[in-house]
Amino acid sequence: YLGKEAQSLGMKAYIVGGIVRDIMLGRESLDLDVVVEGNAVDFLKSINQEGCHISLHERYKTGSLIFSDGMKVDVATARREFYEYPLAQPRVSSDSLKHDLYRRDFTINAMAVSITPDSWGTLIDYFGGRRDLNKKTLKVLHNLSFVEDPTRVIRGIRLEQRLNFHLEDNTLRLLHSCLKGGLLARLSGYRLRSELELTMQEKAPFPALKRMAELGVWDILFPGLRIGKTAVRTIRRLSAFLARISRDFPDFRGYEWLAFLAALAIESHETVQFAILDRLSLAPRERDIMVQSLDGLRAAEQDLGGRTLVKNSEIYGYLREISPVTALFWSAATERWRVRRRILSYLTRLYRTKSHLTGRDLIEMGYRGGPQIGEILSQLRDRCLNEELTTLEEEVAWIKN
Ligand code: CTP
Repeated sequence: YLGKEAQSLGMKAYIVGGIVRDIMLGRESLDLDVVVEGNAVDFLKSINQEGCHISLHERYKTGSLIFSDGMKVDVATARREFYEYPLAQPRVSSDSLKHDLYRRDFTINAMAVSITPDSWGTLIDYFGGRRDLNKKTLKVLHNLSFVEDPTRVIRGIRLEQRLNFHLEDNTLRLLHSCLKGGLLARLSGYRLRSELELTMQEKAPFPALKRMAELGVWDILFPGLRIGKTAVRTIRRLSAFLARISRDFPDFRGYEWLAFLAALAIESHETVQFAILDRLSLAPRERDIMVQSLDGLRAAEQDLGGRTLVKNSEIYGYLREISPVTALFWSAATERWRVRRRILSYLTRLYRTKSHLTGRDLIEMGYRGGPQIGEILSQLRDRCLNEELTTLEEEVAWIKN
């Protein structure tokens, strides 16, 4: 549909970047990026699909289509670095697309496929992307790629480990000189944080984090960071928990990556830990999660490993006060199996325990709304947590007594 629409406006449209790479590798891809030769804003304005919301950035000549099922298509105007001229012969692609692709990071990300009907499905590969895909190689398009955008160092490592590719020799050399030249140190906290966040949100973040250590990226980003056995074990456990039991976990609201960040910093001196928080300009809420995670571990091990917090209701009472991300981190960081078991039982089960009876039921039974109901519900929940009450009938009987 998009291709037809473009053609009717005399434009050409292509899918580009990660989606092309993922299709060729037979991998699932989340975003769909479209580039049009012509103005993307005019193109988007002409689209009139039901159930589809359009957002525009006139200044950048880009925009997005957001479908009611949540799918998003980003549409950009092919960047022309040189002046435009009309093409005499209809061709599959023209210079503007080539220039657009040339400013991208790696050859495998710089391919396009035409979606305009007259050339539908034609692969456009100016820089040997397909060859590198077959060779499982990550290769920059030109020697200034990392200088233009140093976040590509981290992107490259992430992609290399995700796809199980390898950075080509010259690319690796350029990556090292970018590190030595101190370019990563000049990145803003926000950009660095976004890149690390993406890396730690990978399905399996450990290989990329390890590769970053091997290549000396951590030493440059966070001088003094000590990554020893405890950090490695914690990261591995976090990955395992998230992969195997995350279905039952609470909604971490996108903060899971902070558990990995805390794991990375677990063996480092407090001054290094604080330097990381500052360097990444974390938001106050994120800082709190990090500080609570790292500072509170020993106390949590004492409290949850002893004989004072034994009942489910007591474990619940203790852990509900802290962020579930912190609990997740503690469960992976501790070497004490009883502590781990108690936290995991909270994260997979206890946190969502509720009585059958609701506040509304209690009002119908004649209670007046307000704090009293809250107190009764909390007592009911504690008894459900401890399995003293299991059925609705038992709850009603308990209330009546
Ligand atoms: N890109 C780039 N340099 C960057 C970031 C992105 O050249 N620093 C280009 C790449 O061509 C990439 C495209 O922009 O394919 C889209 O970026 P993004 O959506 O972040 O990456 P994807 O390749 O789609 O990867 P992912 O699967 O991680 O989303």
